[in-house]
Amino acid sequence: MPRTAFAGTGFYVPERVVTNHELTGLMDTTDEWIVERTGIRERRWVPEGMSGAEMARRASEMALDDAGLQASDVDAIVLGTLSPDHFFPGTGVFLQRELGLEGIPALDIRAQCSGFVYGLSVADAWIRAGQYRTILLVGVEIQSTGIDVSTRGRDMAVLFGDGAGAAVLTATDGAGGVLSTHIHSDGRYAETLWAEFQSSKHHPRIDADVLAQARHYPSMEGREVFKHAVTRMPEVVREALVANGLDTDDIDLLIPHQANQRISEMVQRRLGLADDRVFNNIERYGNTTAATIPIALAEAVRQGRLERGQLLCLVAFGSGFTWGASLIRW
Ligand code: ACO
Repeated sequence: MPRTAFAGTGFYVPERVVTNHELTGLMDTTDEWIVERTGIRERRWVPEGMSGAEMARRASEMALDDAGLQASDVDAIVLGTLSPDHFFPGTGVFLQRELGLEGIPALDIRAQCSGFVYGLSVADAWIRAGQYRTILLVGVEIQSTGIDVSTRGRDMAVLFGDGAGAAVLTATDGAGGVLSTHIHSDGRYAETLWAEFQSSKHHPRIDADVLAQARHYPSMEGREVFKHAVTRMPEVVREALVANGLDTDDIDLLIPHQANQRISEMVQRRLGLADDRVFNNIERYGNTTAATIPIALAEAVRQGRLERGQLLCLVAFGSGFTWGASLIRW
């Protein structure tokens, strides 16, 4: 049975850097509050008109280049996002069009911050089943157009950023690759971190009252999210390790979803990992949701943080709640 190898990685973030200081001009906040609570110093925002599909294409081209492949080599696209360019169709088909492809399947994954890990689970199953040999797996997010940048929305607005990350997955008969991926969800907490509108339960799906009440902006019970994130992430990492007869000592590099530096630090502590075995870049990009893990992975590779044969662990937690972890022999 073939296994799934990471043949290439790539990422794209918009040029525009938005510092904490710039946010202080829009809302009642401070650089100190943001850094202390989240570890974030700056994030990127798209220019007017830039689409998620365009960012995804740029990240994908970098990943294809890294893999030494052409877009025409791709057999399927799997794309995670909570901020699609349109309500329908999904961003995956727009990416497909941007890459000049036609005919191959494009699947959008709606698992929010866990989108990349959920997508990896699907792509790995397809490759193991022999259905496809080369899959483009992408996480992309435009958060800046959907956040309330007034003081009312400051708890959310300071956290999020825009960006895209991509990986080219290929079938391999070698020993390395994805060992296993473990995914979960718990819909009892669906409203703990969500965007209520636009909603197909309502007619029309969005109206002036909703806009006036700011119910189209995402909302979150921050402390509740924090509590579950720091419990579920170590739990699912241990589940993945046990499934493969491995231990925390075997992890060479952990890439946690970049939700918040404080969350990542607590996950690291609970797993007993030294600083050099955890990769964080939230300081520069904020939380780019489905894109945090592939962006971090692409950066980690370029910084020489991963060598062939090492054990990589990806772990995510997010809205839904959804969470998951994957172990990869790099
Ligand atoms: N600037 C200044 N003050 C703020 C800001 C801000 N940006 N946001 C909130 N505050 C205020 C609040 O209004 C509150 O004021 P009050 O005491 O007068 O009411 C005070 O700061 C404390 O608010 P809390 O929400 O209690 O702050 P807390 O210490 O819980 O930190 C935070 C908030 C950072 C959001 C925290 O709850 C957290 O990290 N939660 C995890 C959620 C997260 O990271 N989500 C990311 C998206 S989900 C994901 O990717 C998994």
